[in-house]
Amino acid sequence: MQENPAVTLLTPSVIHRLCRQLDIRPTKQLGQNFVTEPSAIRKIVREAGVKAGDQVLEVGPGLGSLTLGLLEAGACVTACEIDPRLAGFLPATILSHAPGAARQMYLIQKDALKLLPADLVGLLSIAEDAEGSGDERGGNVSVATSTSSRDFSPEVLVSNLPYNVAVPVLLHLFAVFPSLKRALVMVQKEVALRLCATPGSKVYGVPSVKIAWYGRARMGSEISRRVFYPQPNVDSALVEITREIKTPGESGFMGEVNGLAPGATPLEEQKEKERQAVFNLIDQAFASRRKMLRAGLKSWARPLAAEPVLKACGIDPTARAENLRVEQFVAIARLQRALLAGFETQEGKSTWENGSGEGEYKAHENLPVAGETPTEKAPLKARASANGKVNLLLAAGESEDGYHRLSIVFQAVSLKETVEITLQPAGIDLEVSFSAPPGAVGYHPGRDQQAMSGLDPQDNLATRAFVLVAAQCGYQGGAQIKINKQVPVAAGMAGGSADGAAALLAANQVLAAGLTLGELAELGASLGADVPFGLYGGTCFADRRGDRITPLPPAKPLHLVVAVSPETLPTPKVFQRFDQAGVPLTALPTLPEITALLQALYAGDFGALAKLIRNDLQAPALSLLPQLGATIEVARQQGAIPFITGSGPSVICLVDSAEKAEKLAGELAQLEQVAYTLPLTFSAPEIDLARKQWWA
Ligand code: C5P
Repeated sequence: MQENPAVTLLTPSVIHRLCRQLDIRPTKQLGQNFVTEPSAIRKIVREAGVKAGDQVLEVGPGLGSLTLGLLEAGACVTACEIDPRLAGFLPATILSHAPGAARQMYLIQKDALKLLPADLVGLLSIAEDAEGSGDERGGNVSVATSTSSRDFSPEVLVSNLPYNVAVPVLLHLFAVFPSLKRALVMVQKEVALRLCATPGSKVYGVPSVKIAWYGRARMGSEISRRVFYPQPNVDSALVEITREIKTPGESGFMGEVNGLAPGATPLEEQKEKERQAVFNLIDQAFASRRKMLRAGLKSWARPLAAEPVLKACGIDPTARAENLRVEQFVAIARLQRALLAGFETQEGKSTWENGSGEGEYKAHENLPVAGETPTEKAPLKARASANGKVNLLLAAGESEDGYHRLSIVFQAVSLKETVEITLQPAGIDLEVSFSAPPGAVGYHPGRDQQAMSGLDPQDNLATRAFVLVAAQCGYQGGAQIKINKQVPVAAGMAGGSADGAAALLAANQVLAAGLTLGELAELGASLGADVPFGLYGGTCFADRRGDRITPLPPAKPLHLVVAVSPETLPTPKVFQRFDQAGVPLTALPTLPEITALLQALYAGDFGALAKLIRNDLQAPALSLLPQLGATIEVARQQGAIPFITGSGPSVICLVDSAEKAEKLAGELAQLEQVAYTLPLTFSAPEIDLARKQWWA
């Protein structure tokens, strides 16, 4: 660990002498207690796992005991000290106790609660600053703003945190420094226990949940009071926090990049809004921690009632804040916003728009221009996938401009469309292949090939998606687009839309277009109403034309069988039949209807789901293809929950086990009106390479 043996740590006698010399009496107000024992310092550095070259941020270096320990381990340290006297003296201590390491030590005199990435740009090391001022022993060190010497992106926070502001400092730093992957900090033992507490524990509270938004907290060693000067009257402990990659639907999915640096993209703004909404909910819920949530969140939920929102998230309304995991707070906040957006009467007022607006488009530096061949060795290639879907709720309202107003609960299923794009000098070549998913019964690509045969490659959604992204970043060359299809064609499962979504993702990557998820969703909506969902996957609520997506927590991986019809049903025809039915338009679903469906979905309650699945296009689809009714009847007799998805003609049969799915797939495949069957499961959103930039 002692990478830098030329460093001498501070001893108790040196610290006492320094305090006397400087007339420093550690102040209670700033929560100052200095660690005096070199053994304790080395223990902290060891537990932090600091290695040579690590970019460490230290808050509250004080006299420099821990700073020297970090430099001894070879780290590159940026220290943030609020007390001007201590900040003024620290360089001299470093120059005398670690002269060889002063080039990897930077100092900022500032309140850590106000520290921002912009403060860590263009720093001068203590050594450079001392040389610049001509004072070998240092002196008042300040941040150089004119010379851009070094920009610092902290990876690890290692600190003996000022005890009175430990939690706000931690939350602030994780919020504003996305580069910060880990923290090992010393705090009051009670605070450490609170940070690491899990639901149900007496000490589980606001700090525990908010820290869990960013990652996982773990208790480290306890540190004796005797190693401090002055000796505090509280116990101390180390706590380690590790930032975690989140998937959509989990806490922090929208919270990885926040703090809103100038020039933040619409997606970053959206993420920050979500973090604020979740933190506000956490504060509200714990403000009345003894109350049941249905009462404690009454005013927060207005104009909605708290109880159905809680139930829809699978949360017992009589539970208390201290029983909920952070993911559950996220689910509540998200659903409330989704429902408010969905029931917004005035269009355009919603706060849940997919991030739109101007973005910066970076063209790939090495893009071939028309007539130029990309290098043989490194073809510019990218691949992305998007899943097929079923609609657990599809409620239609009036139509306007040829599109109906919809309320949808989308659920992705384990069928993937994969699009691979390789750039080429000119022209777009499209190649489509078909794959049977595992377990398919009676599968033959003939039906799907036939269904696609009339489609001009120029009109293929993958081609159109590529052209859209290329136009955004000024790319004028060509591309070879390969689609591998698993989702049945023209079957109401958004296979074509998934091609569009996967192509948007792959094009964004291969062209380094830098479009945000919200920007891609906006392009996707211009290709087709189901395309935005393909970008998100998992479980989503959608409204407007079905193109405004709100991701929801992922549902359980329930089993289903798809009975694919040999016939196809064009969506516009089904909507026309819906309009012609002459019955009064069904009202869009009410809040209790949606929440009851989600509640059954998250609980995996089959009996309840059977009653709540709704598709306003089922009757028109059945009237166009009455033979689907027979498939539904057979599946119902076998104990499944059968329904038509989207505009059909696929019949979806929910069953409660893999064995039943396999058996039912075999039986339904025998029917004359069934081309083939696919036993599947619901799937969670995927973090693939093309999406990682947003979700990791
Ligand atoms: O957007 P997409 O191309 O997938 O839609 C196909 C057709 O489905 C539309 O042309 C329209 O006839 C119908 N549709 C609708 N209302 C929606 C979505 C689609 O009427 N919200």
